[in-house]
Parts: sequence; structure tokens; C-alpha cells
Amino acid sequence: MPIQFNEPTRVFTLHTKNSTYQMQVDKHDYLLHLYYGSKIENQDMSYLLQYNDRGFSSNPAESIKDRTYSLDFLPQEFSVFGMGDYRESALQLVNTDGSFDVQLKYGSHEIYKGKRKLEGLPASYGTEDEVETLVIHLVDEVTKVAVDLSYSVFEALDTITRSATIINGGEGDVYLEKVMSCCIDFMNRGDFDYMTFYGKHTLERQVERTPIRHGKVSVESVRGCSSHQQNPFVILCDQDANEVHGECYGFSLVYSGNFKATVEVDQINQTRFVMGIHDTGFRYLLQSGEHFVAPEVMMVYSEQGLGEMSRNYHALIQEHICRGKYKKARRPVLINNWEGTYFDFTSEKLASIAKDAGELGIEMFVMDDGWFGVRNDDYAGLGDWFVNTDKIQGGLKKLVDEVNSYGMKFGIWFEPEMVNEDSDLYRAHPDWCLKTPTREGNRSRYQYVLDMSREDVREYLYESITVILKEANIEYIKWDMNRHLTNVYSLNLPANRQGEVYHRYVLGLYDLLERLTTENPEVLFEGCSGGGGRFDAGMLYYSPQIWTSDNTDPIDRLRIQYGTSFGYPVSSMGAHVSAIPNHQTGRITPLNTRGVVAMSGTFGYELDMNKMTEEEKEVVKEQVATYKRNYDTINYGKYYRLTNPYSKERFVAWQFVADDGLRSLVNFVLTKPEHNPPIINIKLQGLQPDRKYRVAGTDECYTGAALMKAGYHLKEQFGDYTAVQIELELCD
Ligand code: GLA
Repeated sequence: MPIQFNEPTRVFTLHTKNSTYQMQVDKHDYLLHLYYGSKIENQDMSYLLQYNDRGFSSNPAESIKDRTYSLDFLPQEFSVFGMGDYRESALQLVNTDGSFDVQLKYGSHEIYKGKRKLEGLPASYGTEDEVETLVIHLVDEVTKVAVDLSYSVFEALDTITRSATIINGGEGDVYLEKVMSCCIDFMNRGDFDYMTFYGKHTLERQVERTPIRHGKVSVESVRGCSSHQQNPFVILCDQDANEVHGECYGFSLVYSGNFKATVEVDQINQTRFVMGIHDTGFRYLLQSGEHFVAPEVMMVYSEQGLGEMSRNYHALIQEHICRGKYKKARRPVLINNWEGTYFDFTSEKLASIAKDAGELGIEMFVMDDGWFGVRNDDYAGLGDWFVNTDKIQGGLKKLVDEVNSYGMKFGIWFEPEMVNEDSDLYRAHPDWCLKTPTREGNRSRYQYVLDMSREDVREYLYESITVILKEANIEYIKWDMNRHLTNVYSLNLPANRQGEVYHRYVLGLYDLLERLTTENPEVLFEGCSGGGGRFDAGMLYYSPQIWTSDNTDPIDRLRIQYGTSFGYPVSSMGAHVSAIPNHQTGRITPLNTRGVVAMSGTFGYELDMNKMTEEEKEVVKEQVATYKRNYDTINYGKYYRLTNPYSKERFVAWQFVADDGLRSLVNFVLTKPEHNPPIINIKLQGLQPDRKYRVAGTDECYTGAALMKAGYHLKEQFGDYTAVQIELELCD
């Protein structure tokens, strides 16, 4: 039983394979957090609670003369603002009478097998055998505001998910000003490292790691989407934690809008971590009887370092977030025309790229931006989702049929959430975009954002996308989003509900995606937002892959994909081989290296195939064959980061091991050539120590133990950015 409740002591214990999470309803009926960490069985952890008379820490009325009881330092399971806990709160609201006070006390609880859906939101899912859920009902007896805290335990994956539902059980209106999804107090420590993933357009998810300190450190987005700039996935870990050693706690918010993840060390060196929807721009009216559901946070604990934690996230996302046909089915190797042609193409040009690609084993052609409306540059056309027959001569079906005749699937690009002023849609419905009534809105990439909270907007998008899907045999959609939100105001909502628009935008997006993905189960969706600007577990619920970055330079990609891999599986990362000099950085790298790096993702090409030489085409053929041969190992196997691309090493290495441990693919990229170089030795991971592995294509055979303990010597490399791939197969 992963979830236990001890009646006499009122202690809740949640066990995963290697972790324990414990809380207690205390003598005053507050829900206190007792412990989260390495597995401890048969132990009530309340012995860790300390009661002290601390200056300037107030005491709740029910503690009467006891000055040692204060919410200011006792570990809270869901901290509220206004009643004496001065640390970062999980809930802040304005009651009907204008007061801030909330006093949440235990009311009841429920434990059940399985996991219910989160209303309107993406969330992890599992069978009754895989997951068990606890819901604790807390209530404020004065205002009747209640909170349901929900915990689901995926025992095998060392995962506990949390979410919260706020219920207005009172008579009048309540305004929610802040609702976080999880709050965790580590009362036994204030010495973590905080790992976060910052970035910008064309350089997402760069790893940053700093020790925490007294006060708060937050990462956040107020851009209306999860953003390139920070990611809603963060880690707290031991200061000496590395890939194979140390305690790590991962937190992944299953949400694609504004977020905040705050870590705070308090006056007595305890750590609090709080994560959820950002409170900036948030003010949610709850009328009597209404409720608000906060998105889910997926927490993974590992005491064997970051590698183990990441692999659990990979399995969690692949098995319990991604859905539909392509959760399991092989994803096609694709060619996308964006970097090959940008806006300058005709159907004839596209078909000839597809033809060349099909001959090399590539399986799908994706027509990117520029096929619709009057879209010849990025100043016009967004919103007009009908085919531009000047470019796609003879119509979409003709082109798709031709591409299909080369044995290739056909995919198409949309940017549904956006509109250009120069479009029929904007001319007909200027009120459909987000803007304040009294001023002109900001443009970004010369476009406005549609008000996804509106049903009529969603209906229009649903209809237009459906018409296109019915017009031809379309098997893939790239769903792009190329600007961030400003002037967030819905002309469809009253003034006192404008603080809901950021969130309602995300709910509207999810609603539309849910409808389209359900009705088109055969279509593969790929998320995108100027590359990886909305790379989060929420989007992965609808699209099992996301374009990782608009930067296709393989050397920059080493860090981008490395950072992304901490919280997301390789099978979710769109990665393409592009032309040289690279369009983003101007760097020149060998085709082999571009292939090796792109193969560690959902593999594809993004260049004008017609411009490739016969020799290059032969290399592409070989790459596609290598990828297909190793598909299962790469996509369903285990992923090991062997080096840190931020270190001083002159090479970067990573490894895939098939689920049964019997095959492996090892990848090296030399980032700094050197004359008379030191030996490159790399210790592999995840192999079976007693089995013997052959380096494919040679008669070199070594035991797993040797490769993991003594390592593998890479032959001397020469030249700029060379890459080597080693396939290991059994030889005993
Ligand atoms: C974004 C995407 C690119 C491409 C362009 C088209 O930048 O990330 O891959 O689709 O839009 O405008």
C-alpha cells in the first residue's frame, strides 16, 4: 500500500520504491509536513518537529498561552498568507469582507486506487495498478473556503504528483490572488543547490546551478507561456550531487502558461519550495459554490543522483503524460522545408525536396510557414487558414498526393493562436485578439495574440484546421506560437474577471488541443514556440514531441539538448540536421556530427535536399538507416549523460542503453581539437557487468564491467567538431 493513514496519530505516509513523504494532522488540526526524502519505513517523523518560543513569530488563537506554537516556523503542507506564516505562501485570497485571513484545518480525507482527471488541465494518468491517490480536504470554518490537496503516488517511478482545488463554500464572492500547486517544507535542511534552466530564443534550457541562501530565489514566466527564458522544471539537490550520486528532488509543472518556482531559506535554515501559476496578473473570482483547479506538479525523488531522477522523468512523461497513437508508434523521420526555403517556395519546389528525401529513407515531408493566406513574409496572413493557391498550385490535395506517391507522409504547420493585422480574420474580427479597449496593443513579430479564452475564437480555429485536415491526407501538425502575451485583456469578460485571462487563455488552448487530438487520433502533433519556448509537460500531453530550439547548430544543441534532458525524454525533443554554414551561428560542422546530434531526438532534416551532393545524400541515407536501426534504444531505452558540456572537457558524450541492457549507442562530439592530445577515456553506464559487448563492425569485445569501470578509450580524433557513434551489441 503506497498510501497509509495512521488513525491514532493522524499521520499520512506515502511510499514510492525509494522515497517517503509524510504529513500529520496536528493537535490544532493543521496539516503539517513531516518529511520528504529517502525511504524510511515504520517511523513517525513527527519527532523532528521543534516547538520554540521565537521572537516575532505569532501564535494562533487556539494555542492560547503556548508561545512555542507558531505557523511561522512549523512545516506547512499548504501555507496560507495572512495568519502568521511569513514565508512564501501557497494560497492568498481576498474574502467577501475584504480580509485576507485563511485558516485551513483538516476536515476529511479519501484514498483510492488510480487517479482522476484534472478538470480542464493536462495531468499524469495511470491505471489502478500503477497509481494510488490521496485527497485531503482542508476547510476554513469561518469563511467555508476549502482546499482539496491531491497526492498521487506512482510507486515504481519514485514519483508523487500534487495539485490543489480551491472551493468557495461560503455565501459571497472570493478573489483568489495566488494559488500554488505545491508547497514543501524541508525542516531538516537549508543547504540545497537549486538547478534551473534559463535561456532565450535560440538557446533554451541552459543549466544554472547555485546554492540556495536565506531569502528567496525564484524562476518564473509572466509571458503567457512557459517560455524560452525559464522552464517550469527545476531541481533541488545536494550540493555534491552529480549524475550518479546524491539526493535530488525534481519538480515539473504540468502547465504551459505563467509560472513561478520559488525556493526560500527561512530564519532557522529550513527550506520551503513553492511552485504553481504565477501570481502576477492573476486574480480569479470564485463565486459561491465555485471551485478552481491548480495544475499538477510532478515530483521525482532520487538518492542516486541526477541521472536516475531524469530517467524516471523520461519514463513518467512517456508512459503517463504522452497519449495517443504516437505514444508507442514509431515517429517518422521527417524533412521540414523552413530553413530550406523560408517563405519562398511553390508546390513544385516542395515536391522536389520531398522526392529527394523519400529516396534516402526519410518518411515524412513537413510544409512549414507560408502556405496560407497572403503569407509571403511574416507581416501578413496569420489567421487566414486557407491554402494560398499562388504557391500551392492546384491545391493542397494535389501536393499531398504527390508527396504520398513518393512513399512519404505529409505534415503541415499552423500558428493557430495568432493573427496579423493584415489578414481577413483581423479585418472581420478585430475584437478577437487580446487587447485593452483604450489603447493600441503591442505587436511582436508583427502579430497579435488571439483571445483563446473565447469560445467563438476556438470554434473558428477548430473549423479552419478541420477543413484543412479533411482536404488532404495530412498526418502531422506542427503547432507553433511565435510571440509572448501583452495587453492581456479579453473584450469578452467583465472588468472584475480580467485577472483570469492569462489562465483562461491556457485553458482555452488545452480545450482546443484536446478536441483536435481526440478527433484526429492518427495525426502526430509537434509543439513549437519559436523553437522550444513552450517546452513543458503540459504541452507534451497533447503533442509527444516539441521542436526543441530554432537553433539547429549541433554544437549549441549539445547544451540545449543536455539541459532539456534533465526533465524531458529524448523522444520529446525535435532535432534536425540543417545546412552549413549554420543559419543561426554561421558555424561549419561535419554532416556526420549534425546527424549524430540530431539523432538524439525525434530525428529529421531541415534543408533543401535538392542542394545536396550525391556524396552527402549517401551520408544522409546512412544516417537514416542508423537511426532506424537504433530507434528503440534511443527512444525507449535509458539515457545517460556521460559528460557535462559546460565542463572544461574537450568532448561531450552521452549514451543510450536498450531497456534490456543488451544494446547500447554511445555518442561523442569533439568540441575542441588539440594537437598531441590527452587520451579520451569515458566510463559507460547502464550495461550488464557480466555480459560481453562488441563494438559493432569490429571484433573488439569487452565486458560491461570493464566498459563501466575502466572505461572506453576513444581513438584520436582530428578536425573541427568530429563526432563518433559506437554501437554496442552482445558478443557472448
Ligand atoms: C518558428 C518556428 C520555426 C518556423 C518558423 C516559421 O520560429 O520555431 O521552426 O516554423 O516559426 O515562421
